[in-house]
Amino acid sequence: MTAPLLWPAEAIWEAVAPRLPGFTVEVLPEIDSTNSELMRRARAGQTDPVLLVAQRQTAGRGRLGRGWVSSPGDSLTFSLGLPLAPADWSGLSLAVGVALAEALGPGIGLKWPNDLWIDGRKLAGILVETATVAGVRHTIVGIGINIAPRPAGEGMDIAPADLRMLWPQADAPGALLRVALPLVRALQTFERAGFTPFEAGFAARDLLRGRTVTLSDGTSGQAAGVAPGGALLVHTAAGLKVVSSAEVSVRPVP
Ligand code: BTN
Repeated sequence: MTAPLLWPAEAIWEAVAPRLPGFTVEVLPEIDSTNSELMRRARAGQTDPVLLVAQRQTAGRGRLGRGWVSSPGDSLTFSLGLPLAPADWSGLSLAVGVALAEALGPGIGLKWPNDLWIDGRKLAGILVETATVAGVRHTIVGIGINIAPRPAGEGMDIAPADLRMLWPQADAPGALLRVALPLVRALQTFERAGFTPFEAGFAARDLLRGRTVTLSDGTSGQAAGVAPGGALLVHTAAGLKVVSSAEVSVRPVP
C-alpha cells in the first residue's frame, strides 16, 4: 500500500492568504474534475478564492474538449478559482504557463499556447475557464502535472514527461507547494498589466519558434513567436497568419 500524501495546505494558505483575502485550500480524495467542481460552485455563488486539489479525478478535462487522464500520486491535479478583472484577457493562459514553467525550473519549454514540455514530451497542461456570476467574471485555472513516469496509451502515442525527470524526489504535494504562490502572483500581475510582463518569459521557453507547424485547419507554416496578446504567429505560403485558438502539431525533426 502506498503512504497517504500529506498536503501542504497550511503552508500554502499562509503564503497566499495575505494577497488573496478569503482564500482557502481544499483537498478532496475524489471528484469528477476540479475545474467542473469550481464551475458548479461559482454558478451557485461561491466565488471566494479557492485552491482545490483532487487526489483522483474521475472525469478530468483538457483543452479542446479532450480528457485529462491521471492517477493518484503519479500526478498533481488542481484548480485555482478566483475573481479576476484584467482590462485585456488575451494571453492569460500563456502567462500561467510561463509562471508554472519558471516555478518548476529550467529544462521546461512551452508549446503554444500553454503546454509544458520536457524533451519533446508533455509534462503539464492548463485549462483556463471563466464563469460570469452577478456581473463578475470568475476565473478557474486548472492544472495537471505528471509527477511520476506513465506509459503511453490513453490517446498518447508516446509516454508523457514527468517531473521526476527533473527532480527524482518530486511528489505532488511538493510540486503544489512550489507552484501555488507563483501562480497567484502571476494572475495578479496579469490582472494589473496583462500579458506584457510575461512576453520575454514566453519567448525564452517558446518551443515552436522557427519550427514547421501544422494547424488544425491543415495550414502549415513556420512558427514565428507570439503577438503582444499571445496569439501564435505563423508564416504560411499565404502570408503571416495570426492564430488565436487551434491545435498545433509540430513536424518531427527529420
Ligand atoms: C490540457 O493540456 O489539455 C489541459 C489539461 C488540464 C488538466 C487539469 S487537471 C486539473 C483540472 N481539472 C480538470 O478537469 N482539468 C484541469
